[in-house]
Amino acid sequence: MSRGAALVTGASAGLGRAYARSLAERGHPLLLVARRRERLDEVAAFCRDRFAVPVRVVACDLATDEGLATCRAAMDEAPLEVAVLNAGFGSLGPLTGLDREREGRMVRLNCLAVLDLAAHALPPMVARGRGDLVIVSSAAAFQPVPHMATYAATKAFELSLAEALAGETAGTGVRVVAVCPGPTSTEFSEVLTREGARPGAAGGGWPWMLPIDDAPAVVRATWRALDRGRPVVATGLVAHASRMASRVVPRRMVVGVAGLLHRHRTAGRAGDRHPI
Ligand SMILES: NC(=O)c1ccc[n+]([C@@H]2O[C@H](COP(=O)([O-])OP(=O)(O)OC[C@H]3O[C@@H](n4cnc5c(N)ncnc54)[C@H](OP(=O)(O)O)[C@@H]3O)[C@@H](O)[C@H]2O)c1
Repeated sequence: MSRGAALVTGASAGLGRAYARSLAERGHPLLLVARRRERLDEVAAFCRDRFAVPVRVVACDLATDEGLATCRAAMDEAPLEVAVLNAGFGSLGPLTGLDREREGRMVRLNCLAVLDLAAHALPPMVARGRGDLVIVSSAAAFQPVPHMATYAATKAFELSLAEALAGETAGTGVRVVAVCPGPTSTEFSEVLTREGARPGAAGGGWPWMLPIDDAPAVVRATWRALDRGRPVVATGLVAHASRMASRVVPRRMVVGVAGLLHRHRTAGRAGDRHPI
């Protein structure tokens, strides 16, 4: 059976690029979205050459109304079998020290864009009785995170939204999963260091001994979760531990530990290397 098209937002780097490659390997025509066209073109060329699938690239800013309209228009051109809503970024430091405009942009991208594109992708999938919606949240969704307050709140929004949508689509043939990765090797920390850490912070990595996942492992866990009908998947040891702790440890204590970890990151302790 020929595969339907797959949308991947944030396909120019990191997890999105890994989703794009995996979907191409599975034979899906691709619709790749992010702001950096050259990077998207590179991913597209790789997927066309290696897996012989058609690829369309749309360069737009999903934190803007105009960018969302452009993306929705592209989605209307081919029926989507898979939508991976992955584009996102974070920041580090106490809220009062962060750039408010950037924090607002994060909410627009991590929350409003996901809401808008999910609402646009689902009706045709439900009408066809088939489709997969993947929302990339984070281990930060399992508890509030002092010093990453906005980011964790946006990821909690995505987790809650995905679980609710999984409930709303139950029995329709459409599958919805929230993916909650722990620290994963991508450009996330670079973006955080470059523009989203408070002045004076070292960019905030994780202590070197913490396990860092690779993006293909997160992608494989996503497909497994969909096949098993799981609406939430935590990937990597850190995410599993966060999820477990959020269930059994008093909330104040979990928030306290998360705050301690992230305060160290903003202070730039030696040996740190990666954000969540
Ligand atoms: N890496 C981790 O440790 C980790 C852990 C948990 C969750 N996550 C989540 O995983 C998702 C992917 O992040 P990543 O780790 O792969 O980071 P990444 O390597 O920095 O990739 C982020 C992607 O989002 C795109 N993007 C950023 N702003 C955008 C905008 N305004 N409009 C359209 N696209 C935009 C970027 O492309 P352009 O710059 O070209 O626009 C890029 O393709 C995020 O939602 C993140 O919160 C990551």
